[in-house]
Amino acid sequence: MNNKKKACEYVGIKSFEYLLPAETSEDELLDLINRLNADDEVSGILCQLPLPAHLDEKIVINAIDPKKDVDAFHPVNVGRIMTGDYDFVPCTPAGVMELIKESGVDVSGKECVVVGRSNIVGKPMAMLLLHQNGTVTICHSKTKDLAEKTKNADIIVAAVGIPNFIKGDMIKPGAVVIDVGINRIAPKKLVGDVEFETAEKVAAAITPVPGGVGPMTIAMLMKNTVKAAIAQNR
Ligand code: GUN
Repeated sequence: MNNKKKACEYVGIKSFEYLLPAETSEDELLDLINRLNADDEVSGILCQLPLPAHLDEKIVINAIDPKKDVDAFHPVNVGRIMTGDYDFVPCTPAGVMELIKESGVDVSGKECVVVGRSNIVGKPMAMLLLHQNGTVTICHSKTKDLAEKTKNADIIVAAVGIPNFIKGDMIKPGAVVIDVGINRIAPKKLVGDVEFETAEKVAAAITPVPGGVGPMTIAMLMKNTVKAAIAQNR
């Protein structure tokens, strides 16, 4: 959240922060969202997840006006990603696509393996790769022989949340490896879902953690917010 606030300042977006206590009731949170929905000063609303256990994520996300849903988590925006008719792209998958594009990698016809099936990353990621004509496989904790799948991939997107899960010997030489994982293994040590030291020896291109996908996610959040502001203010 601090990096998101800093990015807003950097690009000239005014941000308002509401740091609510963990005991906040659903009604209180929904009241705040409704106030922000109605506030013309506010173009984008982001409710940082996860929420405390007594709050229902679905109810909270559904309360955000889809026009202000800069995370693209509302079912209306999720549905539009399925059909390919979307204004907001979820920030992390959008950042991954931008990295792929800027690196000159053409997704069309490529074997793409997404490891992880979360609503925030895995599922929308698969859709975006599919829209670019990738042949997409989604793998998850119940996938049998994961290495067989990843070794066949031209593009791997790792988003499982397990430190150093994908090792170099699971990667085809010359593959493009995007690491979405952010795992804290010590107070000051972040690692990804990919074991960088072994993977970088076989991959043609690979993103580091930290400093790879994370900053792109925030850049895409800024992009969605500017889009939302333009759409709401003509
Ligand atoms: N928690 C982890 N990633 C995200 C994100 O991109 N948006 C929100 N709102 N919460 C998150």
